[in-house]
Amino acid sequence: MDRLKIIGGNKLNGEIAISGAKNSALKLMAACLLTGEPLTLTNMPNLADTRFLSQLLATLGVEVYWPKGDNECRLNAAELTSTIAPYEQVRKMRASFNVLGPMLARYGHATVSLPGGCAIGARPVDLHLKALEAMGADLLVEGGYVKAAAIHGLKGARISFPFVTVGATEHAMLAATLAKGTTVLENAAREPEMVDLADCLNKMGAKISGAGTDTITIEGVAQLNGATHAVMADRIEAGTYAMAAAAAGGDVTLTGAPVAALGAMISALKESGVTVDSNEAAATLRIQRNGSALKAVSVTTQPHPGFPTDLQAQFMALMSVADGTSIIRENIFENRFMHAPELSRLGADIQVRGKEAVVQGVPKLKGAPVMATDLRASVSLVIAGLAAEGETEVNRIYHLDRGFERLEDKLTGCGADIRRLNDSEE
Ligand code: EPU
Repeated sequence: MDRLKIIGGNKLNGEIAISGAKNSALKLMAACLLTGEPLTLTNMPNLADTRFLSQLLATLGVEVYWPKGDNECRLNAAELTSTIAPYEQVRKMRASFNVLGPMLARYGHATVSLPGGCAIGARPVDLHLKALEAMGADLLVEGGYVKAAAIHGLKGARISFPFVTVGATEHAMLAATLAKGTTVLENAAREPEMVDLADCLNKMGAKISGAGTDTITIEGVAQLNGATHAVMADRIEAGTYAMAAAAAGGDVTLTGAPVAALGAMISALKESGVTVDSNEAAATLRIQRNGSALKAVSVTTQPHPGFPTDLQAQFMALMSVADGTSIIRENIFENRFMHAPELSRLGADIQVRGKEAVVQGVPKLKGAPVMATDLRASVSLVIAGLAAEGETEVNRIYHLDRGFERLEDKLTGCGADIRRLNDSEE
């Protein structure tokens, strides 16, 4: 099993190019199932998760052309050989569940395994299912599978989500493109990935308006066509490197950064005393901290445009070396503080009380062996390791490979001392 060895203390200086967004790419890939014509996605991040979904799509009969290491992927779902997504594949990655709606909308039937919980919480899919039912789907949940049918096709519906959900908003948007009539999604997620998905679907001939607001309207069309779409830049990857630079100190410019999508993160960094220069037109974000102390800042995770839950762990790593006490409240997932005890192994002073973590900043962290528990938790340990004195070894980094493209290359390019080891190496 691979692990990362980090010798902390080096400042980060240089440029980091931001990759395509994992969480957008996964839904854009599912969109290929809505049409018999090829969907070409550029700026595709090469990640374990995106490669994994391409395998599931291939199992369903999608022709996938995506050479290793390439950032362009062509998906052609001209003829599916199966509309069954098996447990073995869906359980490995929750976003696989999003193939249900598109297959149901195009073929009138689909069977997809329930994804189950994951390390950060129970994560049910009840709102995905309610949305599909509102569009006229007959659903039978049996033996861990959702068997869905809509023999006469899906129908447009008014769907009001009781709370904001990214996955169910995207799933409903995908399915509604081919429904008869108009679908209105109320209390829809406003994450930038909604806009990316709607843009791609509109290029494919869908009629979606309002993406990025809390009301999305989708006028169903009879069929969709192929298209070429560039995956938006990854706001979470950009936020992660911004915090790495802030924690280690130095001067790093992120290029191809989705500046407009990062407002809450930029405000929190500025409040903590980090110099942030953003240039939306040039898509750059420059992060500087040379010697100045960090101030403790409290944040609460919220749906967009609030502070993102996917940057909570990284911000906790940063706050663990700030002056003073910060309170970090997690409002989206019920069990997303697993990095706290691992950060404590590096000397951080963190008390978790229910939904809140109280972080009392310490002057220095010290390297130690730690264990990655999920994707964002893993990268928070990398950030802490870069800021710590001495050697940190991060184990179980397969979590990192799910969502960060060439992480070690990008960081070593800025002067970090970070190396990947496997069991046969020292
Ligand atoms: N929820 C329900 N029922 C549902 C759907 C969601 O109760 O049917 C709950 C969830 O359990 C959670 C809350 O609603 O407590 C919000 O979940 P949401 O649906 O918004 O999240 P998601 O679609 O499962 C995506 C990202 C996550 C990110 C969240 C929030 C993907 C593949 N995943 O998950 O990303 O944290 O939105 O922004 O897009 C990550 O990348 O590390 C990651 C976990």
